[in-house]
Amino acid sequence: MNIFSEPFILEDKNRLPEIYKLRYNAYKNHPLAENFDFKLSDGIKSCSDILDENGKHFIVLNNAANEIAATYRLNIIDTLEQLPYPNIFKPFQLPEARPFLFYSRLVVDEKYRNNNFANKLQKSLLQYHIDNKILFGIGTALHLVDWLKKWGFEILGEVDTTLDRNYHFGSSFAMIINIENINNYGNPSKSIE
Ligand SMILES: CC(C)(COP(=O)(O)OP(=O)(O)OC[C@H]1O[C@@H](n2cnc3c(N)ncnc32)[C@H](O)[C@@H]1OP(=O)(O)O)[C@@H](O)C(=O)NCCC(=O)NCCS
Repeated sequence: MNIFSEPFILEDKNRLPEIYKLRYNAYKNHPLAENFDFKLSDGIKSCSDILDENGKHFIVLNNAANEIAATYRLNIIDTLEQLPYPNIFKPFQLPEARPFLFYSRLVVDEKYRNNNFANKLQKSLLQYHIDNKILFGIGTALHLVDWLKKWGFEILGEVDTTLDRNYHFGSSFAMIINIENINNYGNPSKSIE
């Protein structure tokens, strides 16, 4: 058995707190971390929002340790108002098709980084996008803009962070992927095994 699974959608909602903790560990040193809405549950800090309950949580599992190594969330959205920070997208002209997809909360556990897990997850989310024939998806990014572009994402514009007090990620870009631009970048090649 491979130590690490291929990405799959987490069905066991009881494991969501593990994802929230993984995010907290990744975001706690963010320069704007003091603005984040971190929650305390059973004495452990975690990071979740209104999109988690109905989100599709793609994960890579360390089978040997039964530990979530990486996570990336996809939501099927009918109206911007379903997002935790809808206002930042309002200045941009989005296609009219509904529903669309919202990409967010990509995290690889620090000890498993540089093993292509983000690439594998991105590929799985985009495959979901294609399989469900959803015409476009959006998200935001700063340091991963160039990486997202390799997959076919385009920049909608710079986020005006003053438009939504729930947006805590600071200077960043709103990104869009149209289904016809999804490409085969990142056929996973590197592997930890
Ligand atoms: C960003 C993150 C998910 C990347 O994980 P990873 O283990 O490096 O992922 P991969 O090995 O699959 O690499 C994916 C690509 O991202 C690039 N990348 C990774 N970290 C990067 C960074 N800080 N800046 C720019 N590109 C980066 C890699 O070079 C790689 O590019 P390639 O496909 O051209 O080779 C991980 O560093 C992380 O969890 N960071 C904290 C949370 C975060 O910033 N999430 C994203 C915004 S919410």
